[in-house]
Amino acid sequence: MKIDKCIAREVLDSRGVPTVEVELYSGDQKASAIVPSGASTGEGEALELRDNDPKRYHGKSVLQAVKNIEVEIAPAILNRDFVRQSIFDDLLCDLDGTPNKSKLGANAILPISMAFARLQAQCNDTTRISGLALTQNLATSFGSAGITLPVPLMNIFNGGKHADNGIAIQEFMIVPCGFDRFSDALRAGVEVFHQLKKILHKRGLTTAVGDEGGFAPKISDEEEAGPGSHEKVMTLLLDAIESAGYKAGSQIYLALDCASSEFLAKNPPNPAGNTVMYHFEGSQRTADEMIKIYEKWVSYFPILSIEDGLAEHDWDGWKSLTTKLGKSVQLVGDDLFVTNPEFLKKGIEKGVANSLLVKLNQIGTVTETLEAMRMAHQAGYTTVISHRSGESEDTFIADLAVGTDAGQIKTGSASRTDRTAKYNQLLRIEQWLGGRAKFPGKKAFK
Ligand code: PGA
Ligand code: ZN
Repeated sequence: MKIDKCIAREVLDSRGVPTVEVELYSGDQKASAIVPSGASTGEGEALELRDNDPKRYHGKSVLQAVKNIEVEIAPAILNRDFVRQSIFDDLLCDLDGTPNKSKLGANAILPISMAFARLQAQCNDTTRISGLALTQNLATSFGSAGITLPVPLMNIFNGGKHADNGIAIQEFMIVPCGFDRFSDALRAGVEVFHQLKKILHKRGLTTAVGDEGGFAPKISDEEEAGPGSHEKVMTLLLDAIESAGYKAGSQIYLALDCASSEFLAKNPPNPAGNTVMYHFEGSQRTADEMIKIYEKWVSYFPILSIEDGLAEHDWDGWKSLTTKLGKSVQLVGDDLFVTNPEFLKKGIEKGVANSLLVKLNQIGTVTETLEAMRMAHQAGYTTVISHRSGESEDTFIADLAVGTDAGQIKTGSASRTDRTAKYNQLLRIEQWLGGRAKFPGKKAFK
């Protein structure tokens, strides 16, 4: 496939922050992609290039990334034949030449890589009878069947950096997995979301939503929600599940993204040398104390999955978390692995975590993302495809989830078009696949 034309522009993400959109053309085909952006980013993520010009978008504009596409990338990709995604992405990595894409910016490289996947899918899709081209193209690149609809992990209560309610944990998700089809699971999750709104309203709590479309009320008058506050949130979720007519713990479960690197203690008392300390529910706690809290929660609440329960550099803490809870709970590495095969390899060797969170822009190309996923699957780790808190109308991750048979997706709550766009794309894919569509339900969690 030959690319004839490449256009890049600055557009806005779901928080009104600039991001990069790309259009690639080949013959009569055109494909575009928009790159997302995180707030609770891992330190090891590929670099997101910002202009830091205080006169434009408070320093957040991305004109340099756009220029890098126009001046550095476009001349290298135009009018050349590329047969495979991996060859194309290798060229992008070579053009950048740094380990973390800091020369051109991951926000310049990734939209090109995603748009290439779409363009190639369209050019190869001779039948053009459904919208499955991208899903199938990714399945071919990954070597999978590309027929598995993911279990949705729906973040219906937001805290941490995605809200300002003083709740330390960033995401409280419901996991509707006791269903036969994706569409039934999604409907159940959406009904619980609406039920939660009614419950919050009745209790006089605000029903405004946070960055990922989940509710984000302040549940205590204090600046920082204190002891028991997280259990209170999970109890609210269970109330919503049961009063919506579903069974918590067989039809719908809970999942957490603690994003704990965000609540590391700033000035830890450091009682035992260089022990990592967390500031949680009003007190400083060691990793062991955090693990004890999680053990207690897992015995009380139907929690299937805990993401970033400990911080990105706390490998010792992670090891003991995995030893204690890894047999019964999915332990997902987000900031820990940053979708980077190198960090994931270290995790697999050390026996740390048992699941990989997959965010394309953490690593910066489709090929490297697939490589990390392949490594995860080979090691028996599950994979959770993920949006970022700053998203757009781009639905690439829905196709990625099905194309790779990943098994799980987290793409926010049941509100905000940036979130529901992905769920809607999954509904379309389920219908296009028809009788071939599979839904793993609880089997997606080993
Ligand atoms: P982010 O949050 O996109 O702000 O990093 C999502 C997550 O932590 O999973
Ligand atoms: Zn996370």
